[in-house]
Amino acid sequence: MSQLNIINVPDPLLKTVSTPVAKVDAETRQLLDDMLETMYAAPGIGLAAIQVAIAKRVIVVDTSADEDEKSPMFLVNPEVVWESPERSTYSEGCLSVPEHYADVERPASVRVKYLDYNNEMQETLMDGLTATCVQHEIDHLDGIVFIDYLSRLKRNMIVKKVQKAQKDSVVL
Ligand code: NI
Repeated sequence: MSQLNIINVPDPLLKTVSTPVAKVDAETRQLLDDMLETMYAAPGIGLAAIQVAIAKRVIVVDTSADEDEKSPMFLVNPEVVWESPERSTYSEGCLSVPEHYADVERPASVRVKYLDYNNEMQETLMDGLTATCVQHEIDHLDGIVFIDYLSRLKRNMIVKKVQKAQKDSVVL
């Protein structure tokens, strides 16, 4: 496994609509493994392939709070097939928008169809943080970052701060 480089806003790649994967084969599993390692190292609870500059409809999620009891989810070509009328709000962050958070309202529960690590079709009902996280990651596959839900003023301010922080940081 190897760690991949995470891109930040305003990289135009983050606006890409990613392409479905034909089959979860060895190459896809390698990508899933590398993405999981990258996400854990960051650390984060969700990562979409476009955040490592790969425009495939692939996400990894692990919302378990327990360090010792990891429970990774691998979702390929994920699709929301049902959403609850009830909504919930979380303060969301994103590995591509480091150190910025904002409240985003989304359906509280969703039913998601996807191919798993073994290329099996799954349909899972999700709620709580997992529902929010998976919707956030599916948004990435459609070129949407959570700051796109904020006002233009707020969004521009965050993007400027991320750019400045990146410019000011020295990698030795
Ligand atoms: Ni994100």
